[in-house]
Amino acid sequence: MRKILVTGADGQLGRAIKRCFSEKYSLLLCDLPELDITSITACRDAVREFQPDIVINAAAYTNVERAEDEPDTAFAVNAVGAHNLALACRESDAKLIHISTDYVFDGSRGTPYGEYDTPNPLSVYGKSKLWGENLIRDAGDRFFIVRTSWLYGDGHNFVRTMLRLAEQRSEVAVVADQHGTPTYAGDLAALLEQLMHTEYYGIYHATNAGSCTWYDFACQIFACTGRTTGVRPIKSEEYPVKARRPLYSVLDNKMLRLRGFTPMRPWEEALAEYIKNDLI
Ligand SMILES: NC(=O)c1ccc[n+]([C@@H]2O[C@H](COP(=O)([O-])OP(=O)(O)OC[C@H]3O[C@@H](n4cnc5c(N)ncnc54)[C@H](OP(=O)(O)O)[C@@H]3O)[C@@H](O)[C@H]2O)c1
Repeated sequence: MRKILVTGADGQLGRAIKRCFSEKYSLLLCDLPELDITSITACRDAVREFQPDIVINAAAYTNVERAEDEPDTAFAVNAVGAHNLALACRESDAKLIHISTDYVFDGSRGTPYGEYDTPNPLSVYGKSKLWGENLIRDAGDRFFIVRTSWLYGDGHNFVRTMLRLAEQRSEVAVVADQHGTPTYAGDLAALLEQLMHTEYYGIYHATNAGSCTWYDFACQIFACTGRTTGVRPIKSEEYPVKARRPLYSVLDNKMLRLRGFTPMRPWEEALAEYIKNDLI
């Protein structure tokens, strides 16, 4: 049975991996405090002791707003932590699957980004994730860097926030000028499973199909749950935040397509299943 070490196992993607993988693989599920990926010693010890075939790094500093105030912490986890795992994997000859983000792009172009497009992150979070990618690329060659977007699963996410707000208000104001693709963590976990058996190393964009704005996403969440909550479209500048977000960060899943992987289903279908199976 293949051995897989998962970091950040208590996060949204980590939990989805646990659900999808636990009957088929020998899993070592780690999160803080037992495995802090900012410690090279902890990463080396964990990989050396467990001897995994594959390491999936689902650990990250994901608070985009707070990262603006804590850049060193964000870089320690998203860049140094990713590097530590890449070095540990190289020493033990394990494959590394690392998750990155659409926020490595500035979103100024207005058409979907391919894997070959040049990143230009706007936020500390995006910069720290891009630097993590670069360090992994420098550290070895048996890696998959998988960029995803607008992830939701078991944990804090936009879907749960909207449903909580709907309990408190009759109308919510939602940004309608940022475009992206909501992605269900369960679908991403299933895709990672396909990818990890190959040797097609490199960078991949992996999201559900289609795209929308946060406003469209909110409307769909309320439609799927039978809520009558009103949704008022607003511009990004009406919702002041510290971190700049890309206005258009739709990812073209080109490499998955060219490598013959089945495209992930439309985001609306994935959302409906998530709401039916995980929330209701
Ligand atoms: N969420 C999104 O919308 C989104 C979009 C694009 C890409 N991504 C990427 O997708 C991946 C998975 O995201 P997610 O939403 O599943 O994240 P998540 O729910 O925030 O989970 C991340 C996990 O990593 C843990 N962690 C934080 N610092 C750590 C450290 N130093 N060592 C070990 N574990 C640590 C967190 O613990 P604590 O909770 O205790 O901090 C948490 O359990 C990340 O790489 C993220 O950058 C996410």
